[in-house]
Amino acid sequence: MRSKIVAGNWKMNKTLKESKELANELKSVVENVTLDNTRVIVAPTFVNLTRVSEAVEGSAIEVAAQNMHQADSGAYTGEISGEMLKGIGLNSVILGHSERRAYFGEDDALLASKVDAALKNNLEIIFCFGEELEDRKSDNHFNVVGSQLKNGIFHLPSDAWKNVVLAYEPVWAIGTGETASPEQAQEMHAFIRNLIEETYNESVADNVSILYGGSVKPGNAEEIFSKPDVDGGLIGGAALKAEDFGAIIKAI
Ligand code: 13P
Repeated sequence: MRSKIVAGNWKMNKTLKESKELANELKSVVENVTLDNTRVIVAPTFVNLTRVSEAVEGSAIEVAAQNMHQADSGAYTGEISGEMLKGIGLNSVILGHSERRAYFGEDDALLASKVDAALKNNLEIIFCFGEELEDRKSDNHFNVVGSQLKNGIFHLPSDAWKNVVLAYEPVWAIGTGETASPEQAQEMHAFIRNLIEETYNESVADNVSILYGGSVKPGNAEEIFSKPDVDGGLIGGAALKAEDFGAIIKAI
């Protein structure tokens, strides 16, 4: 059975002090809720990964990285490898976030190599994708999402999918306050699950968690999460406040 997941992408926010404060606050939130088949993940910035991991130790909160390089080591100044993430005890990494695609030129081919490198290092992949506003306006959103999946992650063999979580994040809904309607999210998630069934089989499709991301807030989380193919959320802005993130965890 696929898990429900609430994941917080802290992006380039929070100093070490602020990160530890938030981690400690979240730890008490999580201790006071029953997590029924639900995972809670936070993804702080690289420099704070170790200290946030220490802060949440002993709780149900998992820690993920926001990105990684595709090589294990070498002359890549400023980069961080999957081997290094594994080396500090991490088990998950976000790949393909729209901000990486838009501002750092990460294309499908590069992401496919990062996907392989993550798996090689036994890291679970939280693979992000989603269409831009123009794609939706021109009714091209299913094509765009289909091709991001085909070119970025559908090269994996079916047994690798136990280490994959998908996150559908329509670019027009990220940080804009405008969210996909629960119906739009459900429609796209069902399309994605169908595509996985066609490409692989029913069991892979049924077992993969598909998260929605884009302006999820305490006020809209419950309705979005109530849709049958929405298995949780990847949260940006609202993950930066324990009260809001806690309310979203409770909503699931
Ligand atoms: P917001 O929740 O701030 O829209 O960000 C979503 C996101 O990009 C999570 O990865």
